[in-house]
Order: sequence, then C-alpha cells, then structure tokens
Amino acid sequence: MLGSATQTILRERDSLTILPPVGPTIEQLLKLEVDVADAVERADPSDLDVLGFGEISVVLRTKTDEGEFVAKRLPPFKSKAILDRYQRNLETYLEELAGRSVHVIPTSLTALPPANGSITVYCIQPLRAAERIGPTWLRSASKDEGEAMFERLISTMVEAIDDKVGVDSQLANWIIEDDDSLSYLDVTTPLLKDERGKTTLDLELFMASLPWALRAPARRFAIDEAIDNFHHPRTAVIDLAANLNKEGLENWIPTVLEIANAKLSADSNHIQLTAEEIAKYYKQDAMTWAFMQKIRRADRVWQRRVRRRTYPFLLPGKINR
Ligand SMILES: Nc1ncnc2c1ncn2[C@@H]1O[C@H](COP(=O)(O)OP(=O)(O)O)[C@@H](O)[C@H]1O
Ligand SMILES: [Mg+2]
Repeated sequence: MLGSATQTILRERDSLTILPPVGPTIEQLLKLEVDVADAVERADPSDLDVLGFGEISVVLRTKTDEGEFVAKRLPPFKSKAILDRYQRNLETYLEELAGRSVHVIPTSLTALPPANGSITVYCIQPLRAAERIGPTWLRSASKDEGEAMFERLISTMVEAIDDKVGVDSQLANWIIEDDDSLSYLDVTTPLLKDERGKTTLDLELFMASLPWALRAPARRFAIDEAIDNFHHPRTAVIDLAANLNKEGLENWIPTVLEIANAKLSADSNHIQLTAEEIAKYYKQDAMTWAFMQKIRRADRVWQRRVRRRTYPFLLPGKINR
C-alpha cells in the first residue's frame, strides 16, 4: 500500500527559496494521521499539537530528526484527479507569487495512501518560531520597527495583488525573517483566477465542512466576496487592518491606514480608507464567520448524535455534546 503514496516537493524550480528541508516521511505522517483520526473520531483535538485552525485546514506541529515542521491537513480528496488539479493550482500559485517577489516559506505536499475512498494530504513547511509570526512579532516591536514592517507588507500587497493573484494578507500569514524581510505562509488556499475572472480553486473541496444545504448560499453570500476581497489591494488592506482587532493590535490600525492611503492614492480613483470603514467591516466579517462556525458545530451534533456518523473535520473551540 505504501507504494502508492506520493511525496512532492514544490518550489524546486524557484531560485528565490531554499530547497525544502527533508520533511516528515510518509511513515511519520501515517503515525500523525492515526492520532488525527482518533481526534476526529472523538471530535476532540486536545491531544494534538495544534498551531491553528483555519477555515479549511488544521495546522499541526510535528517533530522529526531533521527538525520541527508544520503539517497542514487538507480536506479529504475524493480522487487522484482532484488532488492533481489542486497540486497544479498550488504550483502555479507559488510560481506567480515568486514572480511577484512574494517570498513563500518552503512548501511541499505529501499524500497518504488512499483509504476509505479518499486521499489525505498534508502540506508541509518548516516550523518557524512563534516570535517570528506577524502578530507575536508586532507585540514586541518598537514603533519604528512596526511602521517599517507595515511599509514593506503593504508595498508587497500592492505590487502582488491583482485580478489574477490574490493574497490573504492578514498579519498571522506572514513571518518576519531575521533580515526583516517578509515570508508568506498561507498557501493552502491558492487564490488564483483564470482569464475569465473565475477562481481556479475547487470550492467544493474547501466548503466540504459545511452542511451541503448551506454550500450554495455560503458561496453566493460569503465565499465569492471573501475571495474577491483578496484580489484588490484596497479590500485586502481593510481585511489586514480589521483583523488587527482580533489580535488585540488595534492601536496599529491608524498606522496601517496612513501607509495604505499614501500608497494607494497613486491610483486617482482611490477612496481614502477610514477607521469607520474598518470597524464596520470587522463587525460584519466576525458575524459571518461566527455564523459559519456555529452551523458547522450544529451539523456535527446532527451527524454524530442523530446520524451516528463520524464527523470528518476537526473544529476549533468548545465541543458540543
Ligand atoms: N510554517 C509555519 N511555522 C510556524 N507557524 C505556522 C506555520 N504555518 C502556519 N503557522 C501557524 O498556523 C496558523 C494557520 O496557518 P495558515 O497556513 O495561515 O492556515 P489557515 O489557512 O488555516 O489560515 C498561522 O497563522 C500560524 O500561526
Ligand atoms: Mg492563515
């Protein structure tokens, strides 16, 4: 069975990044997967070393002889064809970002042997120190250091983001390296659009944790708009600024707005960003995602208690029983 597993190292052609260090082997990931499966079975992730819960992946810390890595567990792939498409999409995204001078930390994909009709895939990256991740870094930064970082970040966003390439620019997606340069880490949801402006992301795959009846409305009212926001520097900045509220870093919002307004006003159509606009967006955004999370929990109760099925995703927060 192991022979059918594949391990793919992305970024090899990309001279901007060092080659990925050797990540966990398939055997090591299979061991991790046993623990994950157990947590899924019990709907309780407390025994796992979880670094973060995203909308689509759970981010785990894992140790090997070569060092520590993060393993981002992607939603289950129903076929090799779907996985191949996802992988091509991710490769294209990484190439596009490199071409736009966005440095991404080394990223690879490892697929486990298919089981129960689906393929489990982990996205592997080297683990970076918590103090290097945007929000934690900013908490101990001086005013000058913080301003210089936002200057770099917003310049990067303005140069990289367009109708074709989106970037989820919230601070928790960036590493501040030793030389103060920035590296991006959140690539598991490649934000790419084709010539006709249609997202290339397999939305079915990434909405799999929503009850099916809600996928169409979620798509219509939340997902498409959220994706569009990442394809315009102005709305991406709004998202970056609004998210600082969540991190308890709202004292930096005026700095972000000042820098962004200066950079974006090169476009004569730019409408000045204001603190009120950020506050309004934050409230709306928090409501949308809290609602989705509630729906997922309700679906999990339904699946587990009524349908007596294992709910196949790990959710953050309190466990409903
Ligand atoms: N390579 C990494 N090193 C250290 N922490 C990481 C790394 N990748 C992700 N994280 C942590 O996990 C969080 C979620 O990861 P991310 O890739 O942004 O997934 P999501 O799509 O769920 O937002 C990050 O905000 C960061 O705190
Ligand atoms: Mg993220």
